[in-house]
Amino acid sequence: MKKTEDMIEDIGERCPHVARDDGHYDDAPADWWTSGFWPGMLWIVYDRTRIERFRAAAWEGDAKLERLFLEPNDFYHDVGFQFLPTAAAKHMITGDAEGKRRALAAAVFLAGRYNPAGRFIRAWNGADHTGWAIIDCCMNLSLLFWASRESGDPRFAHIAKAHADTVLDHFLRPDGSSRHIAVFDPLTGRFLRADGGQGFGPDSAWSRGQAWALYGLSNIYKHTGESKYLEAALRSAYHFLACLPEDSIPLWDFRLPDPDGQPRDTSAAAIAASGLLELAALTPAPIGRTFREGAVRILASLTERHSALDRDGYHALLTGGTGHVPENKNIHVSLIYGDYFYLEAIAKLTGWERRFF
Ligand code: GLY
Repeated sequence: MKKTEDMIEDIGERCPHVARDDGHYDDAPADWWTSGFWPGMLWIVYDRTRIERFRAAAWEGDAKLERLFLEPNDFYHDVGFQFLPTAAAKHMITGDAEGKRRALAAAVFLAGRYNPAGRFIRAWNGADHTGWAIIDCCMNLSLLFWASRESGDPRFAHIAKAHADTVLDHFLRPDGSSRHIAVFDPLTGRFLRADGGQGFGPDSAWSRGQAWALYGLSNIYKHTGESKYLEAALRSAYHFLACLPEDSIPLWDFRLPDPDGQPRDTSAAAIAASGLLELAALTPAPIGRTFREGAVRILASLTERHSALDRDGYHALLTGGTGHVPENKNIHVSLIYGDYFYLEAIAKLTGWERRFF
């Protein structure tokens, strides 16, 4: 909380994504998928402390995002990451009607990316991506479930479940590992191929993708109560835990042919920790205890080995994040989503009960 307060002045109006050795976050375009995480951190701390400074700093986050819809923009399926911890969070915490309206508008946009042939939500923009779906989208489905609850209109949830079923059929492997990208023929819906995306290859298991899978599938079970999603969440969580090295911080991919010296990804660790706490709350002991203990081990290791909490002037919570190895981008850096999920997981561990996702 103290560190987040220090970051308010340094970050100012910027949209943080990556911080490097100088310890200052950059300013990413506001339509970039990470733009909801900093306001989301502020909303969590405000919710825990009710200190006005955090509310004031978070307040404009959703209005800033919505304005971009009126200009040429590059929003895509990640509006869940962007509008849940901003607009929806604001509505949940303060009752603000504009926050609800903006989050519902984002849900309409997300639902509009659904491709009935193949039953998937389209991931990225561009003519060459019409048939692409990615595992990360499991997390965005929470926006659709929220929208169905808030509006009383089941169509959002129908779309979310259809996409979730496609994930079970085409992303999750029998051993619980997940591929990053599945490519479909958008006209017929036929599955064409897997793609490595941000992982090592089509048959590998990108660790952050595995974290999105275990957390997203846990949420889908939470929102639907359907046991097939719980079974899938359990499988992906066991796989994640089984692949961790001794220090509980994953390498950037779990299936590297030559893992020695390869970068770890603290953001995958933080996302998984928060997801494991969610899954622990959804499953009775002793299974639930396994996930909670796994999450605590990860968080303890992050705090001991990769936290910037004692580094004055370094305006991020975690170091050691890995953005995109195949493109050689953002390796050994701080990532705002690593910070968000680390904070979110610690908030859960210390009794925070509200959920944005
Ligand atoms: N959703 C993109 C990523 O995890 O890098």
